Amino acid sequence: TSSLPVYSQEEVTKHRSLEDGVWVTYKGGVYDITKFVAMHPGGDKILLAAGGALEPFWALYAVHNQEHVLEILSEYKVGEL
Ligand code: HEM
Repeated sequence: TSSLPVYSQEEVTKHRSLEDGVWVTYKGGVYDITKFVAMHPGGDKILLAAGGALEPFWALYAVHNQEHVLEILSEYKVGEL
């Protein structure tokens, strides 16, 4: 029941810097996390996922496997993949 726009992976991939915006995907959702980058407790590592999927990184850094992390992410949703 989402009315958010659908983006292609190609469009997401264009957003992988603070200049162009930092977008990531997670479970079919697209997130513009540009404004969160400076607030990330894990620092600049977050930019490794810029323009792509969070899943491989969150599989490595299990600290993200918590409800409050998903709540933060949900605030930045801009579309569907
Ligand atoms: C920690 C959010 C992406 C690496 C955290 C914490 C939050 C967070 C809330 C603190 C968790 C806690 O201690 O309860 C996010 C969000 C992301 C994201 C919303 C994407 C939108 C990434 C990526 C990486 C990463 C892609 C690695 C490539 C880390 C590390 C920590 C951390 C290493 C632990 C920092 C420490 O405690 O010293 N992240 N993260 N994060 N994150 Fe992320």
